[in-house]
Amino acid sequence: MDRRAAASGDSPVALVTGASSGFGLHICLALAREGWRVIATMRNVQRSGELEHEARQAGVWPSIDCMPLDVTDRRAVERTVRDIAARYGRIDALVNNAGFAVGGFIEDVPLEDWYRQMETNFFGTVAMTKAVLPVMRERRRGTIVNMSSVSGRMAFPGYAAYASSKFAVEGFTESLRLELKPLGIHAVLVEPGAYKTAIWDKGLGSIRLKDDSPYRQPTEAVLRYSRRTAETAPHPREVAEAVARIVRSSSPRLRYVMGKGSFAAICLSRLLPWKWYERAILCAMRRQSLRK
Ligand SMILES: NC(=O)c1ccc[n+]([C@@H]2O[C@H](COP(=O)([O-])OP(=O)(O)OC[C@H]3O[C@@H](n4cnc5c(N)ncnc54)[C@H](OP(=O)(O)O)[C@@H]3O)[C@@H](O)[C@H]2O)c1
Repeated sequence: MDRRAAASGDSPVALVTGASSGFGLHICLALAREGWRVIATMRNVQRSGELEHEARQAGVWPSIDCMPLDVTDRRAVERTVRDIAARYGRIDALVNNAGFAVGGFIEDVPLEDWYRQMETNFFGTVAMTKAVLPVMRERRRGTIVNMSSVSGRMAFPGYAAYASSKFAVEGFTESLRLELKPLGIHAVLVEPGAYKTAIWDKGLGSIRLKDDSPYRQPTEAVLRYSRRTAETAPHPREVAEAVARIVRSSSPRLRYVMGKGSFAAICLSRLLPWKWYERAILCAMRRQSLRK
């Protein structure tokens, strides 16, 4: 089937943000394999090479359209969603996946980085959701998947900006879910633990540490822990396939926790008195500080 024929078919339409790598790329592949027409949006379409290569290998490239979109550009968000609605007549699923992680201790992270973090991870999600809602409301159907994180449920030292952005996504999605349920639209949170994607290189590569920082030792401990975690993290395909199942479901749950030890960690953080939990985290950090 050529691209035009596929576009004119009756396939459900999914819009995915941040599709150039990691979860976004694999979500596009998983959805296309399941017969969706996928609009793979990314900041720079020149970076669609890996998606195209993998999609061609899987024989699903005709089902994927790449479009440029930076989720922090409000006008572009509105224009792109309008174009998609006009071209395909429907949007059945929105996957708010675009995101990155700012690393560093609170005092060391410049205020601009806090704003950048919220602009993409939180306000980008809000802007995309607001733009897509009129299209879904008209058909009284659709699923919005917001990519949160275990860091949206429990915050660790050294990643406060990231955790704040994901906590915000969690609160937003709880309200969204309750507002949309009566309209037949589902809002869902996906909460992965660590998976092997480019986010680690990007986040760790730009971790903030002032020359005279009093947080040098704990920042280095967090870095060492993050590097070790990234090395042994599972493939993002696992999460992508779960997202494909979620958007197919007629009654998806609010939350999907994924990844090694994520569920146990969240349960423990909920069940243990805060004092015990804090002692466990600080002990683990001290142990990391002693390791080289
Ligand atoms: N990997 C993990 O362990 C993990 C765990 C929990 C949650 N998550 C979440 O999963 C999501 C995807 O991350 P990933 O792990 O797949 O990392 P990734 O491979 O770095 O992918 C992130 C994607 O988001 C895009 N992006 C960043 N800023 C953007 C913007 N302003 N507008 C549009 N796209 C933008 C990136 O585009 P560029 O190529 O242009 O940078 C890239 O395509 C993020 O929301 C992240 O917080 C990841």
